[in-house]
Amino acid sequence: MADQQPDAFPFPLHPDEFGTSSRQHRLRREQCPLGEVLLPSGDQAHLVVAYEDVAKVLRDRRFSRNLRYPGAPRMVREADMSDHPDAIINHDPPEHGRFRQTIQGAFSPSQEPVWRPVVQRIVDGLLDSIAAAGPPSDLVKDFAGVLPIAVMCALVGVPAEDTGLFQEWTGVFFAVDQASTEERLRANKEFLAYIRAFLDRRRKEPGQDLVDVLVAACDVEQRLSEAELVQMVTALLIGGHENTASTLARGVFTLLRHPGQFAALRDDPALTGPAVEEVLRFEVPSEGAFLRVATEETPLSAGSVQAGRAVQVSIPGANRDPRHFPDPERFDIHRTANPHLTFGLGAHFCPGAPLARLELSLALRGLAERFPGLRLAIAPEDVRYAEGALIHPLLSLPVAW
Ligand code: HEM
Repeated sequence: MADQQPDAFPFPLHPDEFGTSSRQHRLRREQCPLGEVLLPSGDQAHLVVAYEDVAKVLRDRRFSRNLRYPGAPRMVREADMSDHPDAIINHDPPEHGRFRQTIQGAFSPSQEPVWRPVVQRIVDGLLDSIAAAGPPSDLVKDFAGVLPIAVMCALVGVPAEDTGLFQEWTGVFFAVDQASTEERLRANKEFLAYIRAFLDRRRKEPGQDLVDVLVAACDVEQRLSEAELVQMVTALLIGGHENTASTLARGVFTLLRHPGQFAALRDDPALTGPAVEEVLRFEVPSEGAFLRVATEETPLSAGSVQAGRAVQVSIPGANRDPRHFPDPERFDIHRTANPHLTFGLGAHFCPGAPLARLELSLALRGLAERFPGLRLAIAPEDVRYAEGALIHPLLSLPVAW
């Protein structure tokens, strides 16, 4: 455990109204830009909130993702992602590049023509079912919570009927304060057993999906070990699901709390891109990035970080930094410049960003066009979200039209 420092805030910070994060980050940026937080594991870290500093920590190689040494800080004590020696997110350059190369082609924006019909088909199918069932609908259960995992299953090659299993497992992984250690370990074990059996099946009956590209990187090109292959499929399924699902549900919720902006989006398809970027800026699904450790003393604008100290960046904090976003607490789909850091920066910049943007864009467009009178079916204050977890996904989003 890291040395105890005074005045540590409990982490994650308490979310603001409706589960979005805002005021606490602003206060911390103004009063305590390199403060201390107490992580759920009991370890302490600096919480970095200013835009420049967040960008620097994510880009600067002196901040490492290698947290696999005795006494390294942890977000949670057991079953922490940082323990895995085979996961892409736990490696620093240059070794990290070997992992990244295996997915580079499959996730390049040039793949959009391959993804678009898959995503559109899934969006249309879900919206057809919602329309057929009639109002009200729970857009978490019927749409946002289903779309990203259905897309990832389709692209990776996992059978669509197994999506429910993935939702359950990823729900447990992310419920840091709510799931017991036993539950987390069990979910992890079942998930990995599923992936191993799935890979065995695909080796016997190969197809033309992303999983086959990854299997070839392991078996033919020998760029990934077996354990790294399993972790890569896991990272894509988890990374491709929870963040996108949460952002989509929260984005629709925020748009419906701003009916004028929803109407503007509905009436002008050209606003879809800017609306997606504003939803991404405003509704970051968590603090947004994994812990780093300073490998040497490194200056930030907020102060100096000593070697060995853990650093947690706050992407919501950066995205609401008034030096980069005029009137940052205002949700505004008409923003022209929107250099948010929601997909990170540097070596670990989210490889799924082009796919997530496409999903959000087709989902918002589809909703606005199919349900022009879409509105919340309950008071916004009554919309429930997970509290106490690292992320604050909506538990349901009842809507009518
Ligand atoms: C709105 C949706 C998404 C958000 C907000 C998001 C955010 C992020 C962020 C901030 C990182 C960097 C974390 C860090 O540096 O500590 C990251 C990495 C990653 N994301 Fe995403 N992501 C999203 C969607 C996706 C999708 C759709 C996929 C898969 C197709 C994906 C797969 C990954 C992977 C594999 C990494 C690790 C990359 C590496 O270590 O090099 N993400 N994501």
